[in-house]
Amino acid sequence: MARIKVNDVELNVVERGSGTPLLLVHGFPLDHSMWRGQLDGLSDICRVIAPDLRGFGQSSVTPGTVTMQQMADDLAALLDALKITQPVVFCGLSMGGYVAWQFALRHRARLAKLILCDTRAVADSGEAAAGRRKMAERVLTEGAKVVAEAMLPKLFAPATATQQPQVVEETRQVILRSQPAGIAAALLGMAERPDVTPQLPSIDVPALVICGQHDAIVPPAEMRQIAEKLPHGKYVEIANAGHMAPLEQPAAANAAIRAFLR
Ligand code: MLT
Repeated sequence: MARIKVNDVELNVVERGSGTPLLLVHGFPLDHSMWRGQLDGLSDICRVIAPDLRGFGQSSVTPGTVTMQQMADDLAALLDALKITQPVVFCGLSMGGYVAWQFALRHRARLAKLILCDTRAVADSGEAAAGRRKMAERVLTEGAKVVAEAMLPKLFAPATATQQPQVVEETRQVILRSQPAGIAAALLGMAERPDVTPQLPSIDVPALVICGQHDAIVPPAEMRQIAEKLPHGKYVEIANAGHMAPLEQPAAANAAIRAFLR
């Protein structure tokens, strides 16, 4: 675990293994620990790098709005700080996927392959964006528990809740430890993220699109369409998983990632 100064913040980052850099970018409102199955299960074939995004985990918090573009630029600067010049495999889940699109569009030369997990390409509807702004206000006054209550029921497949209750509980603890200002800033950033659907045909790297069979936030059919719009997109559905597919079913997710990296 290291804290590395990039741009105006310090980012916490965990690294394991050597070889092709595999950058794992967590969802909202989580941290690098959601990738423990990939840190453990993929570091024999690549250099796994799992940062905490600005505002989350043990990284610095900046108040106001943190855009997906800012987070993508932070990660490019993090790669500079780690002296990684080789193009990376960028793997993002949900909000991490929103950041992945911006990384692909702004830092194309640094990108070898893309892995999109349980994410979307469209922008928020007006109603969804308004809901996020309202939630940002509530988090600032009432604390992280309001977002834990709102998100947890949607994150996991029914099988995960019954068979792996510790995974749900650990995720709850990660959310409750998050700084309200960091959560609010990301909510405001997600509310103003652009629709990248028109750009999908221009993202010409090999892309693996992974979705949990029971994802209650991003319907699998929507992710299948994303894979179809990407010039080199391949879709894989993970059985018995919800929105947190790589955390819920690490063996199946890792098998798909290994096959894609080969
Ligand atoms: C996430 O898992 O990162 C969130 O579901 C993203 C979102 O709220 O759109």
